[in-house]
Amino acid sequence: MKNSQIAMLFGLLFLCLLQIPSSNASFSKTNPIYNVNLAPFIQRLSAYYCLQNTSSNCTGNFILSEKGWLNISNSETNAFCGELGCAQHTLEVLKCVRYVHDEYTFENGATIDNLNDTIHTGCSKGFNGTSLYKSSGTTRSVTATLYALVFLALFYV
Ligand SMILES: *[C@@H]1O[C@H](CO)[C@@H](O)[C@H](O)[C@H]1NC(C)=O
Ligand SMILES: *[C@@H]1O[C@H](CO)[C@@H](O)[C@H](O)[C@H]1NC(C)=O
Ligand SMILES: *[C@@H]1O[C@H](CO)[C@@H](O)[C@H](O)[C@H]1NC(C)=O
Ligand SMILES: *[C@@H]1O[C@H](CO)[C@@H](O)[C@H](O)[C@H]1NC(C)=O
Ligand SMILES: *[C@@H]1O[C@H](CO)[C@@H](O)[C@H](O)[C@H]1NC(C)=O
Repeated sequence: MKNSQIAMLFGLLFLCLLQIPSSNASFSKTNPIYNVNLAPFIQRLSAYYCLQNTSSNCTGNFILSEKGWLNISNSETNAFCGELGCAQHTLEVLKCVRYVHDEYTFENGATIDNLNDTIHTGCSKGFNGTSLYKSSGTTRSVTATLYALVFLALFYV
């Protein structure tokens, strides 16, 4: 890391200290949906916890991660959308993310709407192996995820 980045990191950590919610508004890892109206940085961390909600209905490449890809192929359409209910679970996860951080952007630049549209179009017309995303903003969100993980390491591990 460059010196300027390290300085920025410490600056950010300092800001985080100021942003930690007071004791009566405790931060919930298991129910991130409770973490509404918090500082932007905490919102991002809450979104991260929404994405930790996995289901036995979604395995392998069906699992939505911070990376934001949902590359379901056409032949996987029924498995993803069907009785197993992975599409349903993924929409619940997206709902959680939207609730805690409306403007959340995944690492590939996908917005919540991009993935919501991918699932709705995919499940009605069939997936095609890729998903919607806006290519800009990639580096910014990767950096933000890094900060979130540093925050996690310092305060919760
Ligand atoms: C899996 O999907 C089925 C059907 O939608 C649902 O009844 C069940 O609760 C889901 N299981 C989990 C672990 O999410
Ligand atoms: C996890 O996802 C399920 C949907 O599969 C949802 O019903 C549940 O509320 C979510 N849990 C949390 C803590 O967000
Ligand atoms: C996804 O889009 C549908 C309408 O197409 C909307 O009802 C739903 O609230 C959206 N879900 C999220 C998580 O934004
Ligand atoms: C694949 O699906 C996405 C999302 O529905 C769509 O935007 C894209 O144009 C499709 N690509 C091809 C090659 O059909
Ligand atoms: C998903 O598809 C896109 C577009 O084809 C590709 O750039 C990306 O690497 C794929 N990601 C995964 C995890 O397969």
